[in-house]
Amino acid sequence: MQTQLLNASPASISVAAKALQQGALVAIPTETVYGLAADATNAKAVENIFQAKGRPQDNPLICHISTLEMLSLLTDDVPAALVRLADAFWPGPLTVVVPCKSTVPTQVTAGLGTVGIRMPSHPVALQIIQEADVPLAAPSANRSGSPSPTLASHVMQDMQGKIPYVLDGGPCTVGVESTVLSLSPAPVILRPGYITQVQLEKALQQPVAIAAAVSAPLQKGAKAESPGMKYRHYAPKAQVFIIEGSRESYVHYLQQHTAPNTLALCFEEDAPFIPVPFVTYGRQADEASQAAALFTALRQCDDANAEIVYARMPQKSGIGLAVYNRLLRAATFRVITL
Ligand code: TXA
Ligand code: MG
Repeated sequence: MQTQLLNASPASISVAAKALQQGALVAIPTETVYGLAADATNAKAVENIFQAKGRPQDNPLICHISTLEMLSLLTDDVPAALVRLADAFWPGPLTVVVPCKSTVPTQVTAGLGTVGIRMPSHPVALQIIQEADVPLAAPSANRSGSPSPTLASHVMQDMQGKIPYVLDGGPCTVGVESTVLSLSPAPVILRPGYITQVQLEKALQQPVAIAAAVSAPLQKGAKAESPGMKYRHYAPKAQVFIIEGSRESYVHYLQQHTAPNTLALCFEEDAPFIPVPFVTYGRQADEASQAAALFTALRQCDDANAEIVYARMPQKSGIGLAVYNRLLRAATFRVITL
């Protein structure tokens, strides 16, 4: 199959929407990362997503909607909390997990009885959902295990020859995937993202917990609340180590670890001090800039043929928690504290 890279003109959005209605897969831009979309009501189409990505079958997909009316295709249970959250954060990078209708294909939900729903804010995503006139099931449009795509060229690298269309909507501004929040029995963040715990608590007027699996490996035999948590994720080919400590101690550590093909993954302000080749991921005190840059930076580590990557530790709160969560998985939880 030849993969066509389309600019996001009204004409190509219509071509892509028709293809989706006919059961094809289309990679679409969202504000977080590119998604690999299929008609969420078409079980066969959704099945093809798993093949194209090489994704484990037990990892459920997020359904993307463009209007609140579309909720009724996915769930009969719209709790007051969901209405509040939609009001505060949709369209935007928040996925809410609610009980699903029995008509939602089990390929979407992995048979969990729940469905993750979000209304993306990217205008091209909204337009294509609107024209296709169905909810779109879409995981990130990378091969399973590699860093999520934040540019159409990343999607082409991973999906060339596997899907008919990639819609180019420019760089994703958020850069990490949506916050995934489960509402029952009580609000829990299953995956941290751009929308933070503090923002969610403010909107819901109640405490919001953070699942333990966000910052620690799942215990052997423990059940993953969000199946995505248990897989190696976001990983470049190199071995990644997160280095916790001041800039001085980080630079000192690098001076002592200069094996060939070692790369530093550091903040922009660190650059003048780094004694080995480096890639930057945002500015030290600006977590949003780190989120926007992280996945591109991880792909750059691959492009540079890095074998060992020493990454500076991001903050563990606010948007920084999302950055930390992704980097921890890229590093398979290897943290060196200096
Ligand atoms: O920003 C995003 O969320 C992007 C863009 C394309 O929208 N999508 C995305 O999808 O990141 P994916 O499939 O790469 O990640 C979905 C995550 C997985 O960790 C999955 O386990 C979890 O959401 N998830 C989906 N449905 C769920 C459900 N019903 N219950 C618990 N976790 C769920
Ligand atoms: Mg993903």
